[in-house]
Amino acid sequence: MPTSLSTTPRVARPGRYLLCEPRHFAVHYAINPWMRADAQVDTALAGRQWETLVRAYREHGHTVETVPPVAGLPDMVFAANSALVLAGRVFGSRFHAPERRPESTEYETWFKAAGYDVYRPEELCEGEGDLAPAGPFLLAGTGFRTTRAAHAEVQEFFGVPTIGLQLVDPYFYHLDTALFVLDDPGAGGAGGEDGAPRPAANIAYYPQAFSSGSREVLRRLFPDAVIATREDAMAFGLNSVSDGRHVFIAPAAVGLIDQLTHRGYVPVPVDLSEFHKAGGGIKCCTQEIR
Ligand code: ARG
Repeated sequence: MPTSLSTTPRVARPGRYLLCEPRHFAVHYAINPWMRADAQVDTALAGRQWETLVRAYREHGHTVETVPPVAGLPDMVFAANSALVLAGRVFGSRFHAPERRPESTEYETWFKAAGYDVYRPEELCEGEGDLAPAGPFLLAGTGFRTTRAAHAEVQEFFGVPTIGLQLVDPYFYHLDTALFVLDDPGAGGAGGEDGAPRPAANIAYYPQAFSSGSREVLRRLFPDAVIATREDAMAFGLNSVSDGRHVFIAPAAVGLIDQLTHRGYVPVPVDLSEFHKAGGGIKCCTQEIR
């Protein structure tokens, strides 16, 4: 019997999200297995899907801000990769692919104009693509983009214990394609707005995307995690954004949606199929300013 269904209150934590309009979104180069250099992208459809995501966030109480898109940077829509922001401190990005490197400066310009200092990492680091705050820990992916050396740099910067996780399947090249945080009590303080107790940090993930040692780490840290199937993971179901109650999720991840519903979450399906052609989904398009 799913105890969490009746006992855990699911309290939404209002978020501040930074996104980038897909005016210049395209697939011009292939830097992950989802991308075909000649793939046709329906820019108008991508625009409508993106607007739907923005509307869904706002309708559920979240603040959305946008970075101006830049011609010639087709992956700039994937705002998650540009930084990790914790307690107002911005750890910027250094991209693996040369094609994406100029994006760091564009986001840095936005953050500076918004009043933030931006730390520029020395090591390769793709922001929230590979870094996920989960309660007392920072979960950090490596294997394809962000390096182990960057994990050390990010831990030194934030002083948050950083747990390195080895990704092993090229389809799940960023941590946020294989895992997302359902509840993060660390982000909003100890208790809810109304003083209600918050659930402990919990996650959903696809175990086979990780090395066996990393699977064991996740099993120890999150014994109550939601385990996703390969099918749901391939449908970008783990590239989701949760506010602790609502989970903005790809509609094709039907099994995962079902599991979340049984745990008392409220799935909000948003279809970003055009973005899947570039290997991205809901979370990739969303930078959370904590
Ligand atoms: N085409 C982009 C890349 O391969 C997609 C990035 C998706 N972002 C993410 N946070 N997973 O870099």
